Amino acid sequence: MADTGTQPSALKREIGLFGATALGIGAIIGSGIFIVTGIVAGVSGPALFISILIAGVIAVFSAMSVAELGAYLPEEGGTYAYARNLISPFAGFIAGWIWIFSNIFVGAAVALGFAHYFAAIFPAVPVKIIAVVLCLVFIAINYVGLRESVLFNNLLVTAKVLILLFFVAFGLGFFSPGNFTPLAPEGSIGVLSGAALIFFAYTGFARVTLMAEEVKDPERNIPRSIYLALGISTGIYLLVSVVAIGLAGAPALAGSGSPLADAMGMTGSPGAVLVIALGAMIATASVLLTTILGISRIVFSMARGRDLPLLFGRVHSRFHTPHYAIAITGACMIAALLLADLTLVVSVSTFAMLVFYLIANIAALRLPREHRRYPSWVPAIGALSCIGLIAFLSPGSWIIGCIGLLIGGTWYYFRSH
Ligand code: ALA
Repeated sequence: MADTGTQPSALKREIGLFGATALGIGAIIGSGIFIVTGIVAGVSGPALFISILIAGVIAVFSAMSVAELGAYLPEEGGTYAYARNLISPFAGFIAGWIWIFSNIFVGAAVALGFAHYFAAIFPAVPVKIIAVVLCLVFIAINYVGLRESVLFNNLLVTAKVLILLFFVAFGLGFFSPGNFTPLAPEGSIGVLSGAALIFFAYTGFARVTLMAEEVKDPERNIPRSIYLALGISTGIYLLVSVVAIGLAGAPALAGSGSPLADAMGMTGSPGAVLVIALGAMIATASVLLTTILGISRIVFSMARGRDLPLLFGRVHSRFHTPHYAIAITGACMIAALLLADLTLVVSVSTFAMLVFYLIANIAALRLPREHRRYPSWVPAIGALSCIGLIAFLSPGSWIIGCIGLLIGGTWYYFRSH
């Protein structure tokens, strides 16, 4: 490591419970609630909130598995490290690989989501240019250091939570209960397909485990922060989805690229619409920040495990960040966003994330008995529910996701031989 003089283990423990929870919420609340709810309203109808609840309950099982794994093995890299230790090196590689695959597209999707809301206010600037500039700014923030990233993330998270609460409080005054009938025009298939799509909105709850070596008192703070982040996000999602349907009705949300801004438009207040558009930009920017942070950390961890070139495992001597990992994965994200189609990108990244949580649940099933916090039916239900949700995603997402897995498997084969 000629250029660093600092070993990978030099990452500093400076994230407390608040910072860890904010990292989770930063990764969770983004394009899902601000953009994907529109697509889901078209599938689930006014039962959007039921789809959100189902996806949230399914996420809880995987979150419990990740929380007990995180407490057992607080190593940088999260499920990549758990699967490697508890299943096999190949399972660890695939977990890391599919996570990177998913999150490069999540990053591209949220950057584009931000750009669409920005362009709605300033239509003269091309969407792709805004998205690329946003990525470059956030790559730079991650490059110069964790302290700046965590502080900035705390600010973004506080702002987006307050803006969503404003949406609920302001929107309630214009609520129309008649918008809830019929509740589920497409029946239970529609509600379950909606749950599969909106699972995208929950991805990110395990983000803090990727940075476990930077968390203070990880055995305590990692599980707590995961439950707090998931609980707070689920509560907000349920409130927001009910108010959004109550304001605009499912058909209006379904046809919109900016569903929450359009729902707020029903109040007749342009100022409130502007606040929601700003909230969408803050939320997507916040997801982008922790996505770049998370990808760079898992790439760092995989390089340390020799699954990726050693270059990715180097830590900057001054900033203490895995700078090569940040720069190279950031470049991949920009390349992906230049080719991105939002709906497909959401489905593909959800497919990949469900495969990732499936592996996490299998790793939890293999935890030594004395280190289990929960009975084994918890990870078993977690694994089965991930498979169940995958079945309700589009065939296009299965095909692209499987191609991603095949590429990873091929690379692993040649690297091993
Ligand atoms: N859960 C993240 C979002 O909704 C990916 O943007």
